[in-house]
Amino acid sequence: MNITVHTDPVRKIRTALFVVPFTSAALKKNGEPVLRDLGFEGKVLQDFKADAGELVFLFGSTGKSSAERVVLLGCGEGKKAEDYRKAAAVMAAKAVDMGIGSITVDFSAIRSFAASAKSSVQRVGSSFIEGCFIGAYRFERLKSGKLAGKKEGGGKKKEIVDLVLRTEPAQLAALRDGAETGRIVGSCQNRARDLVNLPGNLLNAEDISRAAAESGARGGYEVTVFGKEEIESMGMGGLLAVNKGSVHPPTFTVLDYRPAGKPSKTVALVGKGVTFDSGGISLKPSEGMGEMKSDMAGAAAVIGALEAVSLLKLPVRVIGFLPATDNMPSGSALKPGDVITTFSGITVEVGNTDAEGRLILADALIYAKKQYDPDIIIDLATLTGACIVALGYGVAGLFSNNDRLSEDICNAGQRTGEKVWRMPLWEEYAEMIKSDVADVSNLGARGAGSVTAAKFLETFIDGHKKWAHIDIAGPSFSTGKSGAKATGATGFGVRLLVDLLRAWS
Ligand code: BES
Ligand code: MN
Ligand code: ZN
Repeated sequence: MNITVHTDPVRKIRTALFVVPFTSAALKKNGEPVLRDLGFEGKVLQDFKADAGELVFLFGSTGKSSAERVVLLGCGEGKKAEDYRKAAAVMAAKAVDMGIGSITVDFSAIRSFAASAKSSVQRVGSSFIEGCFIGAYRFERLKSGKLAGKKEGGGKKKEIVDLVLRTEPAQLAALRDGAETGRIVGSCQNRARDLVNLPGNLLNAEDISRAAAESGARGGYEVTVFGKEEIESMGMGGLLAVNKGSVHPPTFTVLDYRPAGKPSKTVALVGKGVTFDSGGISLKPSEGMGEMKSDMAGAAAVIGALEAVSLLKLPVRVIGFLPATDNMPSGSALKPGDVITTFSGITVEVGNTDAEGRLILADALIYAKKQYDPDIIIDLATLTGACIVALGYGVAGLFSNNDRLSEDICNAGQRTGEKVWRMPLWEEYAEMIKSDVADVSNLGARGAGSVTAAKFLETFIDGHKKWAHIDIAGPSFSTGKSGAKATGATGFGVRLLVDLLRAWS
């Protein structure tokens, strides 16, 4: 998507689709004159209320506009920057469906949008552009096009090639700046979605490492990949245990972004990279098992966030840690009852081989703490079905030993629409993961499954005082059952993490 920003007069703009965004307040105030300028009667406003995501297409301007068609885009009350992202996503999805490859957005009023959102032109602009990327996203690389009839466009790729923003001269620089941020965040989020959407046969642990290396080359940050032998000699017993049933070797990837000057903080981001979770010997039921290709969504979000942070040149050092493997049954696989020794030396009784995420994260968390001594550790993982039971598909669970950090993450969630809700981590829950034979069990007692999983992870942070675990099992992948229109990977976590790191910059 090529993005340009200019200040040409509205009437001269030639485009296939001229998008005119309105908040409900702006519509009441300026709806009629704006429409009249475009060559339409005020009467069309009977059909448009500027509700969030509302689209009304207008054809046949009386010649005052050079656009082929005009679409009125509702941004609702427009009281949050997030409202503009949502509206843009609806609009971009529609444009792609219609096969419109080139659009122009009228941002003549962006200053008043920013004022009503109590925000800046940059922020409203970046939210809007993020929305364009998110709404226009399609995962079509596995469609050969061989079966597409001429009617459906003969397999022609549908995408927005040119996105043009029109604004007033005084807002030009700020909007350009915001658009560039939005382009970076939106495209990094979409790259994360591509990785998550790739099925298990096309993405194994080594492919995750390769994707990280390619991202590092684009973003200009350093990537180190540890292969199976190095993982063995380091003694990462959790990652090796989960990998035992696999025909693909595990990998452990470290992504290191160092800002030019002295970093304000060092933040470790750990992402679960299970490329396919069959459950292992504790095999999952077959219904819905295919969705477990998304069990590396934490790793994908960490790659996306690192790339965005490095392209945005934030003054924070961010280090990503990606333990990766699939979780498969076989004669050599990990078994229930096995006792393993993790990288930390802590022993774990494996009560259930399907609780594999916490085993690979255990090694990665301790590694991050010991090798880098970061100020903050955050892990993202599609860790438990229990978290979906608790919070549904729209919201991630947050578990942390630090109130300030929790507050910062919750606020970033509100700002970006990637919502998180804090859950408890009280000591009582530690009782539930006790083992008779080892230091700890990977399986909790009945109930509170997402909390006992988090409690297990807490065992492996070696007393670190600023740690948060975000369980993204619900919001990272949509099957369409939850009411979300777009199906597949969401890239959840990229916007959240980037916003958080920007707030700390
Ligand atoms: N990857 C799953 C969790 C999951 C479930 C993510 C549904 C996304 C959607 C995880 O590895 C898992 O299997 N967890 C088990 C833990 C249990 C065996 C203690 C679960 O949630 O059932
Ligand atoms: Mn599992
Ligand atoms: Zn899993």
